[in-house]
Amino acid sequence: MDNLESLRDEMLAAVNAAASLADLDEVRVAALGKKGRVTGLMKELGGLDPDARRARGQALNVVKDELAAALDARRQSLEDAALEAQLAAESLDVTLPARPDAQGMIHPISQTMDEVTAIFAQMGFTVAEGPEIEDDFHNFTALNIPPEHPARQMHDTFYLPEQADGSRYVLRTHTSPVQIRTMVGQKPPIRIVAPGRTYRCDSDMTHTPMFHQIEGLVIDKTTNFGHLKGCLIEFIETYFEVSNVPVRFRPSFFPFTEPSAEVDIGCSRKGGELHIGAGADWLEILGCGMVHPNVLIACGLDPAEYQGFAFGMGIERIAMLKYGIPDLRTFFDADLRWLRHYGFVPLDLPTVTGGLSR
Ligand code: DAH
Repeated sequence: MDNLESLRDEMLAAVNAAASLADLDEVRVAALGKKGRVTGLMKELGGLDPDARRARGQALNVVKDELAAALDARRQSLEDAALEAQLAAESLDVTLPARPDAQGMIHPISQTMDEVTAIFAQMGFTVAEGPEIEDDFHNFTALNIPPEHPARQMHDTFYLPEQADGSRYVLRTHTSPVQIRTMVGQKPPIRIVAPGRTYRCDSDMTHTPMFHQIEGLVIDKTTNFGHLKGCLIEFIETYFEVSNVPVRFRPSFFPFTEPSAEVDIGCSRKGGELHIGAGADWLEILGCGMVHPNVLIACGLDPAEYQGFAFGMGIERIAMLKYGIPDLRTFFDADLRWLRHYGFVPLDLPTVTGGLSR
């Protein structure tokens, strides 16, 4: 029986000496594989007489079980060590400061859209989107701007080539078509803002062919002009980060609202420097009004049951006012020096509670 004991000791030592999973497997094959040494001894059992076979068989099984258990334990500890090593090699120090040479900056337009949507989100608005290539119905007709209406000329529309049926798609001239898509697509109560790109065939000091707007729409059964005023005044004070800004709702005209107003904020231009929230001058910042009954009808809503307000403003304009950017066209020059000056640090996401523009 001595040879069995020394074989066991030898095999157990080999198991414990295995430095890798591959080594360990070799040891297993050498002991318990088809041609392994323990397997070989098992095969010899047939030649023994019954009593000796039973005794020898039991002893062999004990050794076999012992080896199997040792192989399992060794495998487990090698796998644990491999995992430890991998975790140590892949560790990441999350307390390191951000890479000091990070150069990317958030463009003032993205920043302004994030700020504005954060403010309206706080008031319970969700964000809606619509296509930049629009059809005539959504961009004009449903907004109470029928064909031949003079407002169509004012929009300097980019038209796409004529379709087989004579209709032409347009690049949307405002974000107002998202109002239509929202009212057609979901039941009131509705409370959305829709930021996005808009296009007009116009280019000078104060106009670029592509620009950005944000649209707002609230529809339910009781919303009135007082709510419109309260909502926009709250927005203006939060956005400009000034309390008690003088705000003026000046009667105006838009085909899709009745009554309509333009909103001016108080400012001073003394010494050529613009200050928001004080002074004797007024600055127009947005258009708004109560949604016109014709617009509700075009969207399948009953104006006897539903009502609400809408507003629209230019993102570049309010960005220029807040951040003192003097020239509209510089927004689209892709000049890195400009972006480094006016851009925002990527990880400072604007929130109403944490600060909009630190
Ligand atoms: N769509 C208008 C424009 O582009 C802006 C606007 C004015 C939107 C009044 C509105 C609104 O929703 O009520 O000039």
